Amino acid sequence: MRRLSLKATNSSNLWELNKIEIMDKRTFLKSLGLAGLGGMLSFDSLAKVVDSVSTVSSAELARDEDFWATIRQGYKLKPDYINLENGYYNFLPEQVLERFIEHVREVNYQGSYYMRNFRVEDNKAMVAKLATVAGCSPEELIITRNTTESLDMIIGGIDWKTGDEAVMAEQDYGSMLHMFRQISNRYGVINKVVSVPNHPQSDEEIVNLYEAAITDRTKLLMVSHMINITGQILPVSKICDMAHERGVEVLVDGAHTFGHFRFNIPDLHCDYFGTSLHKWMSVPLGSGFLYVKKEKIAKIWPLMAEGIREPDDISRLNHIGTHPAHTDLAIADALDFYNMIGMDRKEARLRYIQNYWTSKVRDLPNVILNTPADPARSCGIANAGIRTLKPSELGDILFEKYNIYTAPIDGAGVFGCRITPNVYTNTEELDVLVRALTELN
Ligand SMILES: Cc1ncc(COP(=O)(O)O)c(C=O)c1O
Repeated sequence: MRRLSLKATNSSNLWELNKIEIMDKRTFLKSLGLAGLGGMLSFDSLAKVVDSVSTVSSAELARDEDFWATIRQGYKLKPDYINLENGYYNFLPEQVLERFIEHVREVNYQGSYYMRNFRVEDNKAMVAKLATVAGCSPEELIITRNTTESLDMIIGGIDWKTGDEAVMAEQDYGSMLHMFRQISNRYGVINKVVSVPNHPQSDEEIVNLYEAAITDRTKLLMVSHMINITGQILPVSKICDMAHERGVEVLVDGAHTFGHFRFNIPDLHCDYFGTSLHKWMSVPLGSGFLYVKKEKIAKIWPLMAEGIREPDDISRLNHIGTHPAHTDLAIADALDFYNMIGMDRKEARLRYIQNYWTSKVRDLPNVILNTPADPARSCGIANAGIRTLKPSELGDILFEKYNIYTAPIDGAGVFGCRITPNVYTNTEELDVLVRALTELN
């Protein structure tokens, strides 16, 4: 039987642009106009378009609405509302979706034959590809179903003793805080919860905040690489260095950072890192990974036991039973799409569009901007509130009056709606948001 292919195939319902030559910018833009009439580009044709702008800087390209309109054509967007809530799930561009559907068909066609003969080998290929983007060794990375599974594996897998302490922030994600609560109830671990300011003055302010919560009994510190409700990026490597000096391990919640902006996991200096690939990497729902520094693997108890393995073999932590193999296969396609656009281009665009709308409303008297203006402390996500409206009321008005879908947040010092664009978001849509906030101000 045919080996399941991970290679790109052109789908018949995608418009094929046969020949895109390297052209000057004007001709390129014209070709985009043509593309607009014809429908979305196939994966390969889109790659040629991106290739044709390889000499344009990421910063310049970030402002090029025509270029991003071509990317946008790959997304099937509901006309009912402007989706500014991509933080939950960065759904797939059609170019990746088509390949995913092929994997679903192929795995279904091959059945157990595929599962018995190729699944393990394909999983290794996905791990290797992910490790390249993450900048770590494939021996330190396992594919999981999401950030929750990745982080809870560590929180639940540490050999806790009564009186041990853990440090976290009230702005961290609820599921992890629940897991720490369970650990506290089960083993008598003491949880120290800090509160991160929305507008810190310096990295040191944040590092000191975490350091003040550490005692001689602290075993683990969890920190969000990006706080999900505000989009604030935290100085993780500095926090890790400080914690290590105090003998404390660090678990990083990278749910919102992998595929969002450029970094290598080892540069964070952390011991553990978990992310969800269905967020900024646009893998189908139910995909994530866990990174564990090689020398820490042996000390973690798996959530679900594996057969006999070497203590530092990370596959010890990866026995999750039968699960959707076709989703794992789509990781390669999503990474191809991501590599094709290019991390620097994606990051520059996300920064540009966040700044595009926040800079227009930040100084309005009744607007509360819950995200720092410093580009080192934010990227695509930001959060804005109106002083006189509960976040839920603001969310309702944005949806009902302006057709904008957002995520209202009211708690942990954050009062506003989270605005999460994606690479398909255009400035026209953001103009509607700016108009709404200006009128409500
Ligand atoms: C910071 C953060 N951590 C963890 C999670 C959990 O992600 P998942 O549901 O994919 O496990 C989320 C989800 O939005 C998040 O924002």
